[in-house]
Amino acid sequence: MNVTHLIRSGRRRVKRSLLPLRNKWATRHRIVASLRQLGVKEGGTLLVHSSLSRLGYVPAGSPSVINALTETLGVEGTLLMPAHSWEAVSAGERTFDVRTTPSCVGAIAEAFRKSSGVNRSLHPTHSIAALGPGSEFFRSEHERCMTPCGEGSPYAKLLDGPGQILLLGVGGASNTCFHTVEAFASVPYLMGDATETFTLIDDSMTSHSISIPLHRPHVARCFTEVTESLLSSGIAVAEYCCEARLLLIDARHFRDHMLEALKRDPLCLLATSERKRWQ
Ligand SMILES: CC(C)(COP(=O)(O)OP(=O)(O)OC[C@H]1O[C@@H](n2cnc3c(N)ncnc32)[C@H](O)[C@@H]1OP(=O)(O)O)[C@@H](O)C(=O)NCCC(=O)NCCS
Repeated sequence: MNVTHLIRSGRRRVKRSLLPLRNKWATRHRIVASLRQLGVKEGGTLLVHSSLSRLGYVPAGSPSVINALTETLGVEGTLLMPAHSWEAVSAGERTFDVRTTPSCVGAIAEAFRKSSGVNRSLHPTHSIAALGPGSEFFRSEHERCMTPCGEGSPYAKLLDGPGQILLLGVGGASNTCFHTVEAFASVPYLMGDATETFTLIDDSMTSHSISIPLHRPHVARCFTEVTESLLSSGIAVAEYCCEARLLLIDARHFRDHMLEALKRDPLCLLATSERKRWQ
C-alpha cells in the first residue's frame, strides 16, 4: 500500500465518520414514506439507479435502502438494479463470472448484487440483478441479446411491461433504458463496429463463449436534459427524501414517448456537440 493510498483511505474514514453529524438521517422508515409518496407501486416491477451519498446519512447503509425498496414493493414486487461491469471490460477483462465479477454502478447496487436470493443476468457489460417473483424472467437469456440493452434484454422486458424506473439521487444520465430506446430505434451511433469475445461463467460454473459488439464509447448524450422534460410531460414525477431527489419514470410511457421523439429525430438523444458527427 503506498502513501497516496493511505492518505486517501484516511480521508475517506474521516469523511464517513462525519456523515451522521453533517447530514440529515435517511432512515429506512423515511425512505419508505418517500417512495410511497412518489408513487412506487406495491407488487410492481422497479428498476433502481442510485447514489448512497446523495441520501445524506443512511444509518445502516446500503442494506437499509434495499430493505426500504423491498418493503415498499411487497412480496409480489420485483426489484431490479444494474450490476454493470463495463469498467472491468474497459480495463481489458474478457471473463465475466456471474457470481463474482463486481459491478461498477454504486454501493447500493453492489450490495444488492451480493444479497441473498438475488439473481444476476449473464452479460459481460450490462448485467442486471433481480429479486422477486419476476426475477427469472428478467434475468434470463440476456447472453443471447445482440445489443446489451436492446431487444430481449432485461431493460427491453421492463419497457414492455407496466414497470417503473427510479433514479434515486442520480440524474437522467444514469438511466440505462435510454440505451434500450436507442437500440429499438437503431440509432447509428449506439454500437461499435468490432465484435469482442468473452468467456461467461454461469451460476453452475459452466463456461460459455460469446462474441458480441459493445456500445460505442465516448458518444456524448443529452439524457439529463431530456429527463427534465419528462417531468413536464408527466412521464416522470419527483420527490425529495432528505437530501436526495428521487425521480420515478413510468417505463412504458417512457418507451412510447422516446420512440416517438426518435422517429421524428433519430439524433435527438445526442449532445449538440455530437450531432454533426452523425448527420
Ligand atoms: C457513480 C455513483 C454511484 C456515485 O455515487 P456515490 O453516492 O458517490 O457512491 P455510492 O453510491 O457508491 O456510495 C458510496 C459513498 O456513499 C457514502 N457513504 C458511505 N456510507 C454511507 C452512509 N451510511 N450513508 C450515506 N452515505 C454513505 C460515502 O461517501 C461513499 O463513498 P466512499 O466509499 O468514496 O467513501 C452515482 O453517482 C451514480 O451514477 N449512480 C448510478 C449508476 C448507474 O446506475 N449507472 C447505470 C448507467 S451506466
